Amino acid sequence: MNMTLFRLCALSVLIAVVSSAGLKEEFTWTILNYIWPGTDRRVEERVSRRQIDNVFEDPNISVEAFVTRDAPEGVEFIPENNIPMGANVWKNKLFITVPRRQPGIPSTLNYVPLDSPNRHNVPLIPYPNLEINRYPGGRQNFLSVYRVAIDPCDRLWMADTGLIETPGNSSQVKASMIFVIDLNTDQVIHSYEIPTSFMRPASLLDSITIDVTENTCDDAYAYLPDLGGYSIIVYSLKQNRSWRVAHNYLFLENSQGDFNIHGHRFQWNDGVFNVELSSIKPTGFRDLYFHALAGSHLYRVSTRILRNETLATRSFHADDFQVVGDRGPLSQTTSADIDQCSGVMFMCLVSQNALGCWNTNKPLRTKSIVQRDDRRMIYPNDVKVYRDRIYVLTNTMPEFQFGRLNYDEVNFRIWTNTVAGAIEGTPCDDNYESNTVYGRRRLVGGRKGRIYPRY
Ligand SMILES: *[C@@H]1O[C@H](CO)[C@@H](O)[C@H](O)[C@H]1NC(C)=O
Ligand SMILES: *[C@@H]1O[C@H](CO)[C@@H](O)[C@H](O)[C@H]1NC(C)=O
Ligand SMILES: *[C@@H]1O[C@H](CO)[C@@H](O)[C@H](O)[C@H]1NC(C)=O
Ligand SMILES: *[C@@H]1O[C@H](CO)[C@@H](O)[C@H](O)[C@H]1NC(C)=O
Repeated sequence: MNMTLFRLCALSVLIAVVSSAGLKEEFTWTILNYIWPGTDRRVEERVSRRQIDNVFEDPNISVEAFVTRDAPEGVEFIPENNIPMGANVWKNKLFITVPRRQPGIPSTLNYVPLDSPNRHNVPLIPYPNLEINRYPGGRQNFLSVYRVAIDPCDRLWMADTGLIETPGNSSQVKASMIFVIDLNTDQVIHSYEIPTSFMRPASLLDSITIDVTENTCDDAYAYLPDLGGYSIIVYSLKQNRSWRVAHNYLFLENSQGDFNIHGHRFQWNDGVFNVELSSIKPTGFRDLYFHALAGSHLYRVSTRILRNETLATRSFHADDFQVVGDRGPLSQTTSADIDQCSGVMFMCLVSQNALGCWNTNKPLRTKSIVQRDDRRMIYPNDVKVYRDRIYVLTNTMPEFQFGRLNYDEVNFRIWTNTVAGAIEGTPCDDNYESNTVYGRRRLVGGRKGRIYPRY
């Protein structure tokens, strides 16, 4: 373990003392809006001077002053069609992605300043600018992005699906691509087209997970689950080459495709949806956990296999891929992420309107719930751990897709807490032990200076 990580891990224990359990709402939106360059001269000046983060602190500029429905010429904006799907954090930026699943999405990659004094209906700022997010645009424009990854080398990675998914008319406008942005310079530093031979008619790259350390930035690997092609695409930055990994565990599970969320019943067939990396094991490789959205099982494969093209693409895998276990009924999960310090996996449990957790150092049956809320946590769609905090996006998506969102109510939320605060009092916490003899649960250890009795 390197020193930075060690310091961060130690710090999170201290913070646990002051934070409360569960999650709190950090940002809320009834409807999305954007900051357009040129909307307000004062804002424009600050954008060009790269001081946009301060705009919100200027008492002379209200948010309303520069939010307008009049998008610049050539930019189609239909506010009701803009649904946030992904969230991630780097320093003071909270990234929010809006894939082009409907007409009228002006920008797919955006952020809001994390320290904005406004917490409600904060307008999104296209990142790194509106121009590169425009549609129609060229091959190097960002077309449609679901979720982004941030690596320890201050880079943002994303999979651009290349798809315009207008209902009834989904069309592949360009190849699916990987983009890498240097967050310190706001420049695209690398792009790569996924070979079309890896894609299937229903392919969709909805997330990306990066395998790298801050000492090996040039030797990064990206893992891209293909939820409709039932594969994982592995990309090596050093080799500038990718390969497609196939295995039956990457498919949907037939009995787990029915959903009942917020009064809407429907069937989905999404396979492998998101992959999560453990910390580096004594072998020098990480474990990669994965699950289908339409599934209840959790699986695992070593990155020793995935990173080696020969091993990753062999037709018979013997026991390379392992079943970790069955998480039980209603465990369908969109996004998940693992805190590298504690080994705790957080899971967006869409069928329970909840965020779940599992301490990967303990048996799977100790999995637990961080927070459940049938009114406010409808459709948790992304979770990310950044330093010692978790960030969760809930977006009420089934209501948008099968019903009708009420734009007078809060529909989209970002939830947060420290990792330690979120898992406090749950079996995911190392300081927790369940007492099976008496059928009761006790906290053990010295948190908050109190010693709990151990039976
Ligand atoms: C806000 O406007 C007032 C009056 O014009 C001015 O005195 C003040 O300096 C302004 N504040 C900022 C932060 O620009
Ligand atoms: C389908 O979408 C493509 C790309 O957006 C567009 O060019 C085409 O006109 C659309 N077709 C129909 C029938 O709407
Ligand atoms: C990476 O590979 C792609 C396609 O194989 C190629 O177009 C691109 O130039 C390569 N990039 C670098 C930096 O070598
Ligand atoms: C990949 O695995 C094969 C088979 O075990 C081995 O021969 C080869 O050296 C490995 N390649 C790398 C780059 O480690």
